[in-house]
Order: sequence, then structure tokens, then C-alpha cells
Amino acid sequence: MCGIVAYVGHRQAAEFLIDGLRRLEYRGYDSAGLATVSSDRRIHIVKAVGRIDALAEKLKRHWAPGTVGVGHTRWATHGVPNEVNAHPHRGGDDAVVLAHNGVIENYRVLKERLEEEGYEFVSATDTEAIAHLIASCLAKHRAQQAEGTQGESCIRDPYAIPIAAINEATGKLRGTYGLAILLRDYPGVIFAARQGSPLVVGVGHGEYWVASDASPLAGRTDKIVYLADRQLAVITADSLQVLERDLGIVAHAVESLEMEVDDVGLEGFPHYMLKEIYEQPDSLTAAMRGRLSDVDATAVFGGLNLTPQQLRNVNRIVLTACGTSWHAAMVGEYLIEELARIPVEVEYASELRYRNPPVEQGTLLFALTQSGETADTLAALREMKRKGHPSLAICNVVGSTIAHEADGGVYLHAGPEIGVASTKAYTSQVAVMTMLALYFGRLRHLSYEAGQRIITQLRKLPDLVRETLEVNGEVRRIAAKYAHANNFLYLGRQFNFPTALEGALKLKEISYIHAEGYPAAEMKHGPIALVDQHTPSVFLMPQGGVYDKVMSNLEEIKARGGPVIAIAAKGDKEIARLADDVIYVPVVEEFLSPLINIVPLQLLAYHVAVHRGCDVDKPRNLAKSVTVE
Ligand code: F6R
Repeated sequence: MCGIVAYVGHRQAAEFLIDGLRRLEYRGYDSAGLATVSSDRRIHIVKAVGRIDALAEKLKRHWAPGTVGVGHTRWATHGVPNEVNAHPHRGGDDAVVLAHNGVIENYRVLKERLEEEGYEFVSATDTEAIAHLIASCLAKHRAQQAEGTQGESCIRDPYAIPIAAINEATGKLRGTYGLAILLRDYPGVIFAARQGSPLVVGVGHGEYWVASDASPLAGRTDKIVYLADRQLAVITADSLQVLERDLGIVAHAVESLEMEVDDVGLEGFPHYMLKEIYEQPDSLTAAMRGRLSDVDATAVFGGLNLTPQQLRNVNRIVLTACGTSWHAAMVGEYLIEELARIPVEVEYASELRYRNPPVEQGTLLFALTQSGETADTLAALREMKRKGHPSLAICNVVGSTIAHEADGGVYLHAGPEIGVASTKAYTSQVAVMTMLALYFGRLRHLSYEAGQRIITQLRKLPDLVRETLEVNGEVRRIAAKYAHANNFLYLGRQFNFPTALEGALKLKEISYIHAEGYPAAEMKHGPIALVDQHTPSVFLMPQGGVYDKVMSNLEEIKARGGPVIAIAAKGDKEIARLADDVIYVPVVEEFLSPLINIVPLQLLAYHVAVHRGCDVDKPRNLAKSVTVE
């Protein structure tokens, strides 16, 4: 999992490479590197452990000259994060230098064979095997040319040998790859190949950019080519050729890219995560803008790309996602089943992509994703599309791979989310789920009055979240009290079971405290064994149908000496008698409570992490977008 960039043109490549890598840092940030080829055909490689800033600093001391180059930001899959394992990797005495995004499953076998051929490996990565393999194929095809056994095509096409070599090498790889390749003997050319890992090419005047996704191209060009699997692009400063393995040269569509440069500052906040938590009233407003119609008492979506009849025929919805987005999907399941009476299944994308569930006609898939780049979510979407089911995306990043490949969908319009822990994208996803539940409900049995009541509640949401944010000071105090704990339980029921899961995930990913989310009643079947005076339980206690039931679960924890933090509605007097600490939030209808209750949990995770001195915005071992499976 990683981000790759490449440049060929008339400017110093390293300048773009650093800037492009900064924009891809969300894909991994444990080490980075770049390689350029200077006019004297020398290859310059600079690598650094840590963030792109470290690489940029090093580059000031060791400039990498040249107008062609490749760069990489890494999230380690094979081998610890150090300079040797950082990309770009060399193959065959520098004949090949490349950056790779993906995972090669058969690299051990390849490595053994290449070592037998005499290639020396220095890193612990799977990528180095690709570099040596291309070098080996290149040597073979050259030898064939020298012997005159290479076909006539190589006389016509100056790149016939490297193309044949790269095609042969990539044909031997099992797994996923996006590759940006430099060949010492073909200076001024980038070879870019993909299988399973996205790659795009930005088209300029006398220059081209390659990247794992469109974000590094924003502000540089508005013309983009999305490479497909099995394709290889041969790019010079003034030409782009796309070839497909077995087919040769194929036409490539140049699409327009609508993406703006987002230079996002902290605006006085100490961390992006806190800033993004505070942005939620605005991001929710943006998610709902133009999407609530009083005329029909329903939600309006312009991009579903399905006819009203197709939408009416939907008799089953599958929601797929990973991590926090999966939790938003779970809230969606409760909402859609409650308001629209359509059966919903929520599937981990990583499971769905390999399962073979019977999926009947009339099934609609929604893939939920903030980044639009999550490898498993993309694969699950493709699998459902392949089986002929309409597959839509609920996505934040405009122009991302999933947004591009889906049949249609809904953008979140939450704005850039920089903090690795997702906050505002989550609430926007839940808001979109609520609007979709309203929309499908109104296509079926939900009355005009019921629709109008939901719309009225939704319109109040941004102000209610603003009011909820007033708990920040109280949450900071509570966080300091419990920041030393080693385990937390998060317990909620119905609409707020997913809130419990999400609260627990937020805490563990940024504070490294073990936390488990559970349906409150289910904790008796195991997790209650964890309860002692050092294990706080966070209870979600909105007013509504299951309040008394959750209260009984809370009593069970108190009876065992466990400290309790309750998230309860303002005016709830009973709770203060039992809970050790109470965070009061505005009173809302139950279906909106996940959107309110998650806010104090985001703040709790944030303040605990700050108290423990953790790197809130870039937690260890994580990346903002998981681009390997
Ligand atoms: C947690 C978090 C992750 C992501 C997950 C899916 O705070 O952000 O769990 O939700 O990696 O990412 P997207 O939504 O980009 O597909």
C-alpha cells in the first residue's frame, strides 16, 4: 500500500515528485523516496525514513537533477520501514528503477529463481523482485534481438524491447501492482503498468504526470487518463502510448479532471482531527445541501443514474465498506430497514470480494468510502458490477478511483479530511444514509407527513451538532480522568450499536488503548469478564425504545465495580444516580441519535490521545487510505 508519482517533461522532476508525494501521504507515511535520471543518464536516488518532510529536507542537501523521475511514499507491507526497504528499488545493476504500489504474492518464488540467475537482493520487499525480474527479461529480449530472433516490430518501435520485457515480467507476477518504471537505457521515458492498483496519467503540454490517484494532478492539468488493468503506458515528454497485454496499442480516452488544490491549514486548531470534528455542522450542511425537497417530502439525488422504475424495483440493498465507513453502513442498515422496509446487508468489502453470496435480481450495491481508494472496497464494487448489479458509491473524494468506476452515487461534500481518524466523513456518510432511507421510504410506504417530519429533523441537525460540541470542556476533563486505562468497553443498542463500534475504533486507533464496542446486552455473553474498577464502560443512552433495557445493562456493569461514562440526553435525571460521569447531549429523535452521540466519542478519543502524547493526526501503523488488500 503506498502512493506513487512520476514525471516526464521540461521541468525538474523532483519538484513535482515531492509535491505529489505530499498529496499522496495519506496512503502511507513510514518512508519515502524518489529517483530521477539526469541528462548524463545517471540515476539519482534519494530516500528517507518517515514523512515526506524528511525526504524534502534530505533533497535540499542531495538534489536529484533530471526532468524525468519516479517517487513513492510507503506503508510497509514486506520489510520494516527503513531506507533499504524504501522505494524506488533497483534491478539488475541499476538497469531498472521502479516504484510499486500493491502486493506481489509470489515474490518468494520469483526471488529464488532470480537469485539463481545471479541477481542480488538487498531489501526485504516484494518489490525488489519486480525490479530484478524486469532487468532479467530486458536482458533476455536484448539477447534475442542481438541474435536476430526478435520480430520485425522492434525495428519499427524503439520501445519494443522494453515493452516486451515489462509485459513478460508483469505476466509472471501474482498479486497487485501499480508500477512507475525508469530504464537506464531509455532515459526520458516512464513506463507505467497496472494490475489491481490504480494509476492515472495527467496530460500536459510537453509534460506528463503519473500518480496513484488524481490528487497530485490537481492544479497542474485538467486532462486525465485512467489506466485500466493489464495496461502499460509508455510516456515521453511529448507522447503517451497505451498498450494492453496481448492486444498491443489501444486507444485511450482523455477525460476532464475537476479537482481543485486543497491547501488545508489548521486554522488555529492544534490538530486536523479536532478541526474536522468542529467542522461537522458545516460538513453536514454540505451533505444535505440541495438534497431535501419539501415538495415531495423526500430526498433528491442527482447522481444515482438509475431510472425511477429501476429504483422502485430495488428489493435488497447491500452496503459494503471498511473500517469507519463500515460502521456508517451499519447505521444505514438500521435506518433503511426502519424507514424504507428494504432488507439490507452490510458486508465487509474484504469479505464480500471473495465470497460468492447468492445475489438476486433487484439488488443494489452501495460502496461507502471516504477516500474512494480503499482496495477492498474497490474490488467488492468491481465484483458486484461484474455480476451485473447496479453499483453506486457514497464517496467523499471527487474523481477518486471508486467514484470513477461506480455506476453513479452520492458525494459527501465533506471537504478534505486530513486526520487519519475519520470524523466528519463518518457523520456525512450517516447523514447520506439517513437521506437514502428517506428516499427509498418515500418510494414505498412512507407517508408525506412522515417524510416531512424527517426533513424537519434533518434540517436542525447542524445546529444540534454545534450545540453538542459545547461538551468539549467536560469531555476533556473526563478524558484526563480515564486516560490511564488499558481497556475500554463501548456499549449501545439498536441505532447506537454502530456508534459504540465507531467510538471504540476512534479510541484504539489514536490512543492505542484496547477498546471494544458491543451491543449493550451482548456483553453478558463474554466481555463482562473484562469489567473491573480499572475498565471504564462508555454507555450510549439516548431516550427511546431501548432506554430501560440499556439502563439494566448499565446496572450490571456497576454491580461489578466498573466505572461508567454515559452519553445521555439533556434532562435525563436518572442517569446521574448511576453513572460516574455523564456527558449530556441534545434530545433528538432516535434515528438521528447516532449523529449526535458520536460527537462526544470523537472528542473523548481525541482528548485521551492528546493526554497520552500520541500523534493524533498520523497514528502509528496506519494510513489514511488502505490501498492494498
Ligand atoms: C478509521 C478510518 C478507517 C477508514 C477505512 C476505510 O478512522 O478512517 O477505518 O474508514 O480505512 O476508508 P475509506 O472510507 O476511505 O474507504
